[in-house]
Amino acid sequence: MKTYEIIHREQIAERVKVFIVYAPLITKHCRPGQFLIVMVHENGERIPLTIADFDQERGVVEIVFQEVGKSTVQLGAMEAGECLHAMVGPLGHASEITGWKGVVAVGGGIGVAPVFPIARGCKQNGARVTSIIGARTSELLIYEKKMRAISDELIVCTDDGSYGRQAMVTEPLRELLETEEEIDLCVAIGPAIMMKSVAETTRPFGVKTVVSLNSIMIDGTGMCGGCRVSVGGETYFACVDGPEFDGHEVDFELLMARQGMYRDQEKDAADEPSHPCRIGLHPRKPA
Ligand code: FAD
Ligand code: FES
Ligand code: MG
Repeated sequence: MKTYEIIHREQIAERVKVFIVYAPLITKHCRPGQFLIVMVHENGERIPLTIADFDQERGVVEIVFQEVGKSTVQLGAMEAGECLHAMVGPLGHASEITGWKGVVAVGGGIGVAPVFPIARGCKQNGARVTSIIGARTSELLIYEKKMRAISDELIVCTDDGSYGRQAMVTEPLRELLETEEEIDLCVAIGPAIMMKSVAETTRPFGVKTVVSLNSIMIDGTGMCGGCRVSVGGETYFACVDGPEFDGHEVDFELLMARQGMYRDQEKDAADEPSHPCRIGLHPRKPA
């Protein structure tokens, strides 16, 4: 096997793929909560992706990604047997998975995959784990089987009621908080708006709430400042100080505004057949 070879490729939901990649040096150091930066080809963008699973004996990491724009579509077009151009990691701090009694793991959409190794880690360290996973509709629901296998209880929600309970993930979360006494941690990963709602749900109960921030990242090593977030009024770099932060302290409005700041360029890139050269080597198509 070659380093960064895609040894397994599978579509698990609409526009969502799983790759298992051979990366023994990276796998050796992986811990739940950390992420990777992946490049499809040498001129490609750097794509931050959470480590959804890893197997140190086989030397493989699992990534799960949603095709949302140019680079993730390029990644999704790769076949098993091909090699990624580059993969850097593991990056970021690992999750705190020891010392909890009762954990609620909340995953929304593609966020179910990154919450999986954290929930499993908490379970392996003696916590009772209740997982709540949600998606807009049943076709977008991922990792149900994996989450069920490591959870004491699993609650599935869809926005349209096509599978599981028709509810936002915050509804069963509030019920649990009202009835269960032993919850000392809530971990939530998903769209920023979902993590914000989860944090608002747990706040009145005083339950520690950890969220994983997917701000725009470039180098992933604390040098560019692109991933800066505001937490408790202080500025942090999500790549090196996070990606996990106290959900009750995160400025989610700023996070969401910064996530959308390159939308025009991202749309442009997706519409272009290749990188638009601004020095005239390859004239751009007229708008
Ligand atoms: P584009 O059209 O370029 O962008 C679409 C949207 O994706 C943007 O509006 C922006 O909000 C976001 N985005 C774009 N570029 C970046 C970037 N360099 N860094 C962060 N966000 C960006 N996605 C998954 O599907 N699975 C994961 O496990 C996962 N884990 C992540 C972990 C971290 C720590 C971070 C920061 C992001 C993670 N993401 C994950 C998001 C993923 O990196 C973006 O969806 C991807 O970079 C989009 O690239 P694109 O060119 O296809 O889309
Ligand atoms: Fe550059 Fe975090 S991605 S500082
Ligand atoms: Mg992009």
